Amino acid sequence: MLNQDRKSWEVTDESVASELIGLMGINDQEAKSLGALSDQAKQAAAAMVNDFYSRLNAHENTAEYLQGASSERLRGMVTAWWNDIFSGKYDSSYAKKRIEIGHVHVRIGLPVRYPLAMLDIILQHGDVVAANGGDLAKSAFKKIIALDVAIFNQAYENHQLKHLSELIGSERLARRLLSGAEGL
Ligand code: HEM
Repeated sequence: MLNQDRKSWEVTDESVASELIGLMGINDQEAKSLGALSDQAKQAAAAMVNDFYSRLNAHENTAEYLQGASSERLRGMVTAWWNDIFSGKYDSSYAKKRIEIGHVHVRIGLPVRYPLAMLDIILQHGDVVAANGGDLAKSAFKKIIALDVAIFNQAYENHQLKHLSELIGSERLARRLLSGAEGL
């Protein structure tokens, strides 16, 4: 039963990234090892994006979200997202962008399972690029993907919390409700 406030509840918005970077111990050498692969990542982007949209378009429930959207625009945005993984810079502006991308998906009514299920495509292509940078880049890539998964989920949780908090007038109470705490 949840009967106390948690320090993690005070971590919000882009400060989530610095908290997680500390938690995962992402250091400058790891960041640089990915930044050094930036050009190779850019060259690998088109193949990744092709696989990404082939899968989404092959399934009715996911293809529905892409109808009416400009394929060129979507491909460009996912390419930029991919390139940023290999930017070597993971700071609060990186986190802010990623949280906002998560929010865009919440707003189109997309269940979080779909973006999460797409990550294997990112991993498949990203592992090939990261391998060129040796063990340091390989482990750094895993950490940056874990950071992204965490931020994507955080964006969804933020929405639930925000709306429930507004509805019941208290974020603390909303957190307790979402935790299933008894005796509220
Ligand atoms: C790893 C998973 C995914 C990544 C990295 C990703 C990335 C992105 C990015 C970077 C944008 C642009 C956001 C912005 O406006 O700044 C975007 C928009 C969009 N994404 Fe995704 N996406 C993912 C999964 C999905 C899935 C599974 C779907 C649908 C089934 C989807 C549908 C869309 C649509 C429709 C937009 C355009 C929204 C709009 O502007 O109206 N995405 N995505």
